[in-house]
Amino acid sequence: MKKKALCTGITGQAGFYLAKFLLSKGYEVYGMYRRTSLDIGERIDPIIKDIHLVEGDVIDPDSIIKVLQETKPDEVYHLAAQSFVPASWTQVFSTGQITALGTLNMLEGIRLVDKNIKFYNAASSEMFGKVQETPQKESTPFYPRSPYGVAKVYGYWITKNYRESYNMFVCNGILFNHESPKRPKQFVTRKITNSVAKIKLEKQEYFELGNLDARRDWGFAGDYVEAMWKMLQQDKPDDYVISTGETHSVREFVEESFKVVGMNIVWEGEGINEVGKVDENIVVKVNPKFYRPAEVDVLTGDCTKAKNILGWQSNTKFKELVKMMVESDLEDLKWVLI
Ligand code: GDD
Repeated sequence: MKKKALCTGITGQAGFYLAKFLLSKGYEVYGMYRRTSLDIGERIDPIIKDIHLVEGDVIDPDSIIKVLQETKPDEVYHLAAQSFVPASWTQVFSTGQITALGTLNMLEGIRLVDKNIKFYNAASSEMFGKVQETPQKESTPFYPRSPYGVAKVYGYWITKNYRESYNMFVCNGILFNHESPKRPKQFVTRKITNSVAKIKLEKQEYFELGNLDARRDWGFAGDYVEAMWKMLQQDKPDDYVISTGETHSVREFVEESFKVVGMNIVWEGEGINEVGKVDENIVVKVNPKFYRPAEVDVLTGDCTKAKNILGWQSNTKFKELVKMMVESDLEDLKWVLI
């Protein structure tokens, strides 16, 4: 009998890579999606015929119960969230409902329908926020800096609490930023690679960014989904940091992206007046509209525990990741006329 997995957030970047990975492991994959007027196939088109899509909403407990009863999964991967950090200040209540209480609803649904279902919760390095030690590991105290981060802290603790209260097999994956050609374009990495590709193809003159000096531990989403799966294959449920251990600034990401297309960017000026130039043409400007009310300045993960227990490590280096994303954007944009 094939194992069955249910993924919430199937239409997102991680949903795509996880579903692809689980299919390769022989799973029957159910993807839960929320009905919207948008095209749900944007990212999952290449695998849509191989998975079963089921309609449900993490803020609608009744729909979760029905989905769990109908699909009878062995494993649930809970990836659904309002995951764009800036939107968590403008949609503060719904971020709490979806990202915090949505996790509670999933856990409670599993507890009521079948306590033996294994559960993976997508926690986040955003919980470390104003970092209390470097690098961050499982024991590092949280200090979230956004309503999103606060909501993820709730999700983390309620998952741990269900483990301890009901002896359920539930795990938190504390994933550091994970990127890919499937990353939506408002997140900084894809915004950069997409804009650089457009500049190279002369479809755009410049693009605007916020804090160029923010630093992140960026890995490849395709590597990270394997860690999610490995967590649920252990004898005991636990929580794990998943990261590369390397940190780079937004500025470095921009520089490396331009290098991929054979352009050399030079910075001039400071603060909101700083610009990036290629051959005297301005290609990057700073716009304070992209600054955040409270910023996470730097994140660096220590995934020793995942290495030792799960036998997992990140395989894609920073430069490879940037190259993969820029080249994919160049390829996609070749076919776009304007
Ligand atoms: N989005 C965006 N747009 N970010 C910018 C920009 C810009 O124009 N300019 C600078 N940045 C900086 C942000 O201020 C932030 O410090 C950094 O780039 C990364 O921003 P994002 O790519 O939006 O990701 P994030 O780190 O806030 O959140 C992502 O990673 C978390 C894990 O740590 C998301 O995927 C979260 O859902 C995830 O939990």
